[in-house]
Amino acid sequence: MQTTAELSTLAFTNTPGFVREYRKDFPILDRMVYEKPLVFLDNAASTQMPSQVMETITAYHSFHHANVHRGVHQLSQEASELYEGAREKIRAFIGASSEREVIFTSGTTDSINLVANSYGGYNLKQGDVILISEMEHHANIVPWYMVARRTGAIIKVIPILDDGTLDMNALHEMIRDEKVKILCVNHVSNALGTINPVAEICALCREKGIITVIDGAQAVSHDSVDVKSIGADFYAFSGHKMHGPTGIGILYGREDILKGMEPFKGGGDMILSVSFEHIEWNELPFKFEAGTPPIAQAIGLGAAADYLNSLDRVEVKKYEDSLLHYAEEKLITVPGLRIVGKAANKVSLHSFVIDGVHPHDIGSILDGEGVAVRTGQHCAEPVMKRFGIPATTRASMSFYNTFEEIDELVLALHKVTELFNVTK
Ligand code: ALA
Repeated sequence: MQTTAELSTLAFTNTPGFVREYRKDFPILDRMVYEKPLVFLDNAASTQMPSQVMETITAYHSFHHANVHRGVHQLSQEASELYEGAREKIRAFIGASSEREVIFTSGTTDSINLVANSYGGYNLKQGDVILISEMEHHANIVPWYMVARRTGAIIKVIPILDDGTLDMNALHEMIRDEKVKILCVNHVSNALGTINPVAEICALCREKGIITVIDGAQAVSHDSVDVKSIGADFYAFSGHKMHGPTGIGILYGREDILKGMEPFKGGGDMILSVSFEHIEWNELPFKFEAGTPPIAQAIGLGAAADYLNSLDRVEVKKYEDSLLHYAEEKLITVPGLRIVGKAANKVSLHSFVIDGVHPHDIGSILDGEGVAVRTGQHCAEPVMKRFGIPATTRASMSFYNTFEEIDELVLALHKVTELFNVTK
């Protein structure tokens, strides 16, 4: 396969040196798509993995692979050390107090299902209220809908304002209701890019004894996250959105809450003793990790945390902000284009619509130009309904994207509007 290094017309002359250096860690960014340099702007769906993460996973498979917590033999001990070492890396990465608060799951969806079932399923009663923000991904809606049907709890929705921010006045009003037991909100909206004031929300809820469930899937790759300073009761995220592998995620939970919770899945490793009459659950965090866990993926996630820690995250955040603003300036030159979600506080992501052109057509034409974006409802159907649109095109950036790639995106969008005769 030819690579952009051989064929690219993208010179990256405006891209800062440190970004060009970081890009070298991501071999996939050098590939061609339809003989055009790949412009990967679908990072909110899945970020790319650096070589360091891939090498860590390969080394585990090559030299240390065995089941964890189960063998006295050397390989099993090595695999267990690597797996538990990854847990400690994640604990430090999110500022949790103890490894007992860090549960490996298969991803954010799995993490939220765990909370909904193991906490909500046992604590919610008929008439209790679960507050869910209107900008949630389906992963922070559907598990609650399921548990509400079972328990008789009621879901109420915290609305979004026209600019794509959460209606904090409504939130203040809604949490006055003593029936509110749980509040679910994302740290960052996957469909709009809005960064929500989660520390403020958690503090308000803490005063009222409301449990907070924060979907952090879109936050962890963009900025440092400290669960203690946020004050979250539960915080969920995924490996594949922070430059790690798929099939792995984290549920952070406050130890005192996790201690009192029943497990959601049963099987090996999550028990201390089993008879047909009585089963004793294992200690935290193992109580919530039934069966053979995703060992290689967890180790890969630890390597992804190492990788993110190795970046200058303050500089990276500044750079991503400049990409966001550059992209906005360029996108609004495209005839008929309207950005959906104009919060002042956003991660580097723009969702947009173009008058008279369906996002799926936009996505297909961009693909032909080598530009990868996501189109559709982004698993956030209520957001689309709120803005009265069927779908959007979403360009989501990471620290390895460049100003020149934004130019390629915008050039391709101009081709779309020429093809569809959109003039204003
Ligand atoms: N949740 C992912 C996204 O927003 C898949 O694209």
